[in-house]
Amino acid sequence: MTHPPRSNAALPGPGSSFAFDANQETLDFLQRGFEEYGDIWAIPPQGGAENVAGDGGLPVWVLNDPEAIHEILTRRQPDYGKGVGFERVKMLLGDGLIVSDGDHWRTRRKMLQPAFSRPSVGAMGGLIARCIEERAETWEAHADSGDPLDIVDEANRLGLRIILRSVFGDDLEALDAREGGNPFNLVVDTVQRDLMFAMRFRQLWPVVRELVEARRARGAAGEAEDFLGRYLAARDRDSGEPLDMEGMVDELMTLLVAGHETTAATTAWAWSLLARHQDVQRALAAEVDAVGPAVMDGKMIQGRYDLGSRVIHETLRLYPPVWMFTRKALKDDVLAGHPVPAGTQILITPYLLHRHPAYWEEPERFDPSRIPSSGIAPVRGAYIPFSSGPRRCAGDGFALNATVQHLVWASSRYHLDALCPDAPAIEPGVNLRARDPIPLSVTRR
Ligand code: HEM
Repeated sequence: MTHPPRSNAALPGPGSSFAFDANQETLDFLQRGFEEYGDIWAIPPQGGAENVAGDGGLPVWVLNDPEAIHEILTRRQPDYGKGVGFERVKMLLGDGLIVSDGDHWRTRRKMLQPAFSRPSVGAMGGLIARCIEERAETWEAHADSGDPLDIVDEANRLGLRIILRSVFGDDLEALDAREGGNPFNLVVDTVQRDLMFAMRFRQLWPVVRELVEARRARGAAGEAEDFLGRYLAARDRDSGEPLDMEGMVDELMTLLVAGHETTAATTAWAWSLLARHQDVQRALAAEVDAVGPAVMDGKMIQGRYDLGSRVIHETLRLYPPVWMFTRKALKDDVLAGHPVPAGTQILITPYLLHRHPAYWEEPERFDPSRIPSSGIAPVRGAYIPFSSGPRRCAGDGFALNATVQHLVWASSRYHLDALCPDAPAIEPGVNLRARDPIPLSVTRR
């Protein structure tokens, strides 16, 4: 569907278009726009270019207003679908939860929601603990040698193990034992996220299919406490049907894609912040000493460590892994007093929203006292690392649990120091990652 070009005189904005993408140039452009035009502005279309305005001919809206963002993510969610950029992810993840829309998404989300419930995620604590323990050898070696540990690489490797073990459980051993090694290691051994990577990544689909078939063939398919077990047990609420193979593989790959880099980046940024804020690191160690190690009793552990949870929330405020996402108006609407024509693409940038000076005092300062451990920020809509409303991240509880669990484990044993006092450079790609390695020195407590 194309619209005739319209002017959007009501909204301020630059005179010419801009080809936004997931990169630093775009973040700089959005930052400048926010400073110049405020919380709601528009980028003019480039002669209706499909790659700029999606449907062509319409200005792209840029929102940095908590209330307007809250509206479209929550109450008006049915009127705003996934926007520009998601079609690329769709090529990779088919109809998985992140990219699907409408009835298909609604049915799937209901069907799979039990896998993300507190008891289900709480029961995965033991799987996560095993992955954390697996990395102990590396931490010990660094504590012995005094060689700095690159926390970016470490968190990446740990994050991959955590999501793989939470999805495949004990079948991870079968993956590790494959000729040529675990094929998923490609994700941590390749830094580039280019076409070549996408092609090699696509070759993982048959691997996942094999694992699903092997689990099914063993019988008792839906009993395991991993995501694969939960997804095999999932039934459509109306038809009673399970996921078909294609849906199953897309949904499992969605978990791996959604859960790996996001959680890994959060762990890396958290440690980078703690290493540069010794007072908070000491307070966290004291909390862990007082509460004790994380007990795997099938319940969520995150709420037991108040400061631990606050550290993660403040990390997610400063370094939201999903630093930008989009929506598309499905019908004509009025937002903050401005008419929004159907088809309008909307850019939401948690990175800028989380540093909005009207809502955050000294936004650049790391201060875990800002957001309570519940994750509900003082100003509605101003803190959205997991998005909000019906399409809020399904894995939020899992991610918080896994990252707090790692903070607790490492705080009880080690002390980390930054080699450089400055904040590391960011790389706003698909996720917000660190641009360079972040070496930290590890000493035993
Ligand atoms: C700190 C870590 C994480 C962050 C910051 C994060 C962030 C997000 C955000 C912002 C969205 C919504 C995007 C949008 O509305 O357009 C999302 C969706 C989603 N995430 Fe996460 N995520 C994290 C970890 C995880 C993990 C560990 C899993 C799985 C175990 C996961 C599974 C999903 C799924 C399935 C969706 C789609 C939900 C739906 O639309 O129904 N995420 N995530």
